Amino acid sequence: MAETFTITVDGKPVVAHAGEMVLRAAQRAGIHIPTLCDDKRLDPAGACRACLVEVDGQRRLQPSCAWKVAPGQNVKTQETSKRVQRHQDVLVSLYMADHKLDDEGLPVETCNGNGLREWAQECQTLSLDAVEAPRAARPGDKNPYITFQPELCVLCARCTRYCDEIEAVNAITLTGRGSETTIGTAGMRGLLDTSCELCGGCIDTCPTGALVEKKAIEILPQQLERKVRTTCNYCGVGCQMDLNVAKVDGVEKVVRVTSPPPGETVNDGNLCIKGRFAYDFIHHKDRITEPMIRKADGKLHAVSWDEALKFAAEGMNRVKQRHGPKAMGFISSARCTGEENFLMGKVARAAFKSGNVHSCAAT
Ligand code: SF4
Ligand code: SF4
Ligand code: FES
Repeated sequence: MAETFTITVDGKPVVAHAGEMVLRAAQRAGIHIPTLCDDKRLDPAGACRACLVEVDGQRRLQPSCAWKVAPGQNVKTQETSKRVQRHQDVLVSLYMADHKLDDEGLPVETCNGNGLREWAQECQTLSLDAVEAPRAARPGDKNPYITFQPELCVLCARCTRYCDEIEAVNAITLTGRGSETTIGTAGMRGLLDTSCELCGGCIDTCPTGALVEKKAIEILPQQLERKVRTTCNYCGVGCQMDLNVAKVDGVEKVVRVTSPPPGETVNDGNLCIKGRFAYDFIHHKDRITEPMIRKADGKLHAVSWDEALKFAAEGMNRVKQRHGPKAMGFISSARCTGEENFLMGKVARAAFKSGNVHSCAAT
């Protein structure tokens, strides 16, 4: 266990663990420091300068996301330091001069929210002339899921660092020079022609909505009715996901899937292509949503679960009585949880005395 000691942030004592950054200790103590390039899962980059704080003994402001704690350290955030607040007012205004603004002069809202908008609302922004940012997009990118809106990018490199450090894929990178710097791929190819696995993690980590899901681009956060936490059923890992529900034409629908925040669930904020993007089946008209039994008329009829389970149990018992347990086979799926696969083994071996049980996960 790491050594702990006390630092002072805005005059309050804060418990810090040796080796951690000032930002983490402050966040644990409920102290708000604005950030753009910080993601707990990634190595600190100190790129966006949103989180600068005053540290006693340091001539310059220092990035709290990349500045280690030290015993007795005294730190001031925008709450108690006019210098930090002035820095933030100017910095956020500079970001806004190179960002798409709405009619009220604030960074536009996106389907993924916009951290720059939230931060601008905390500051006294200056009215600066807009700069022309010729950052290139990838208009020919035919991938069905991810779109890049360069006019919303703050070049924090969370997406590229996520792709490198978490996915180990390196499909995207910071490319170009100066004001033409953008998020590109090798030869500016579409993502389908790169090593990209379409995990969507770059969307999830992007703080401003510059990278968003194509299908969900029209649905703003305030249109969401609720989020429903559930377990992904595409494999047995048990990733947790949040189904984002909104009303579309008066009917509640799942309009996108997001991962719970990092550090909360087994998947630590990550999802794969299927978990994040393959949710259209939920509202497909051909989807079977209730049990059915083929009755004497040869047609399938919707029935209750009780009736369906009784029907299945009676049929299986008949097979056992007529042909013995060896005539029976039980096949389970890698998409089931470990508990469900265990229960399938129990049903086969304990209830029907058959050793013919298999899961596709075993092959
Ligand atoms: S979808 Fe995943 S693999 Fe593709 S660029 Fe984004 S982070 Fe990298
Ligand atoms: S696309 Fe998003 S995550 Fe990537 S650099 Fe731009 S703002 Fe940061
Ligand atoms: S969050 Fe610290 S520099 Fe970006």
